[in-house]
Amino acid sequence: MILLAIESSCDDTSAAILRDTVVLSNKTANQTTHQLYGGVVPEVASRAHQINILPIVELAIKEAGITKKDIEVVAFTRGPGLIGSLLVGVSFAKAFALARQLPIIEVNHLQAHILAHFIDEPRPNFPFLCLTVSGGHTQIVLVHDNNDMEIIGQTLDDAAGEAFDKTGKLLGLGYPAGPIIDKLAQTGQVVFDFPEPQIPNLDFSFSGLKTSILYFLKRNLETNPAFIEQNLVNICASVQQRIVTILMNKLIRAAAQTGIHEIAIAGGVSANSALRKSLQLEGEQRGWRTYIPQFQYCTDNAAMIGIAAYYKYLRGEFATQSVAPTAKYY
Ligand code: KG4
Ligand code: ZN
Repeated sequence: MILLAIESSCDDTSAAILRDTVVLSNKTANQTTHQLYGGVVPEVASRAHQINILPIVELAIKEAGITKKDIEVVAFTRGPGLIGSLLVGVSFAKAFALARQLPIIEVNHLQAHILAHFIDEPRPNFPFLCLTVSGGHTQIVLVHDNNDMEIIGQTLDDAAGEAFDKTGKLLGLGYPAGPIIDKLAQTGQVVFDFPEPQIPNLDFSFSGLKTSILYFLKRNLETNPAFIEQNLVNICASVQQRIVTILMNKLIRAAAQTGIHEIAIAGGVSANSALRKSLQLEGEQRGWRTYIPQFQYCTDNAAMIGIAAYYKYLRGEFATQSVAPTAKYY
């Protein structure tokens, strides 16, 4: 079965071609214009998707070595995400399928981040725990099966990716700041202590961390206007370390509570080198089997939409042409 998958939930326009579970191509157009504003501007993102979508689909088809006529199913991200961005991908997918009389499959973006683990070996065994950390969401998910996922912990305010991005804004770094902080932190030392929020159960909170970083910087800039410049790599290393320990401590608690030792991470922040290292180390010490996605499947990509759609295809879960995008988690 040859499947075209489309992802357009935020600021990346991505198209992939899969033959069953094999990714034949996975092409993404990143939108750099948002760097000017220090965050994604929804209306700008929608317009960029409109410009990018046709060329990126054509590129994915070409690189897969197939023709349009070979495509048998069209899959797309229905949500959650920015409604205008989603609308472009959903409308394109529906129109493409309607013109060629093809079935369509809608995919939940966050479930797709998790199912990206099924693109390559080794694949996690059910049930497993997945820490899904992206720009918009932070969840611990108990994955019973590829169509049965239970959120057992989540953020009460900001997402982990947002914590990186908002810190970057305070430090005057570009957007998205996660990869920039990751890189700067590699030459820094953890010398500043930021508080770990005491949130019950398996939930997270990152807004307090953001506020403490803001006051920490204000306080130090009053006495030394060059404080950020002189301490940038150490600030990055310290903030990153705190975000990672907040995430890992909840994951450790989730593993203890559920008795599950198959542990995965997913989403844009799973590209973070400190988080990847920490998961690997904890896993070795605690006897977990850990699953860390390839970099290309961490941040938003259409291959993960394709693999999630493949499992829906096997179950016969097709959408109708009346399907509409949804901004909220569903
Ligand atoms: O999953 P994703 O591509 O998009 C959403 O679904 O939100 O995640 C984007 C987020 C951004 O907040 C970005 O700063 C963060 O992932 N990110 C990282 C790294 N690479 C991307 N955060 C920390 N370290 C990284 N290396
Ligand atoms: Zn995402």
